[in-house]
Amino acid sequence: MTADPPARPSVHRCVCPGSFDPVTSGHVDVVRRASTLFEEVVVAVLANPAKRGLFSAAERQELLHDSLAAVAGVRIEVVEGGLLVDYCRRIGAVAVVKGLRSGTDFAYELPMALMNRHLSGLETVFLPGDPQLEHVSSSLVKEVAGHGGDVTGMVPDVVLPRLLERLAERRTERLAERADPARRSP
Ligand code: PNS
Repeated sequence: MTADPPARPSVHRCVCPGSFDPVTSGHVDVVRRASTLFEEVVVAVLANPAKRGLFSAAERQELLHDSLAAVAGVRIEVVEGGLLVDYCRRIGAVAVVKGLRSGTDFAYELPMALMNRHLSGLETVFLPGDPQLEHVSSSLVKEVAGHGGDVTGMVPDVVLPRLLERLAERRTERLAERADPARRSP
């Protein structure tokens, strides 16, 4: 006797995972388009150990919440550790959705997509990024804004003032540490 196949989830749900530090206009575009393909999009804020955060996970969640307020069928969750595939299984997601801006993104994303499928059969759907936002990433936005460059339109309007404020705070902290190295956080 063979085991019954897993029940089809009643809600056609996908997960858009990422660091979102902070959410960019490119992320918003991908989530908005994913919401036309799936009944529910769960935007999952995951810690990427390779990246030091500018915003805490809770702050990123709040920025995502404000940026995606106008998009129906979206839920934003912070995922505290563990594998993405386990989270997706737990919440009954049938696919991961990721935006692809370039061949470099593809080279970064493909092994993760294959690994996730290997581990659990979870499929990844790639959406081509908006060509007008091809150069926009959270890390470049932080770098450019950190040096005084104009990133208007690259992040949602609600994110821009909070990004500039946080970068200014970090600048002040760095100056204070330079003046007094004992203040440096561990
Ligand atoms: O926005 P990022 O930093 O490119 O997102 C990468 C992220 C967080 C989606 C990826 O590192 C991830 O899925 N982390 C969760 C842990 C996991 O499942 N790792 C194995 C991936 S194959």
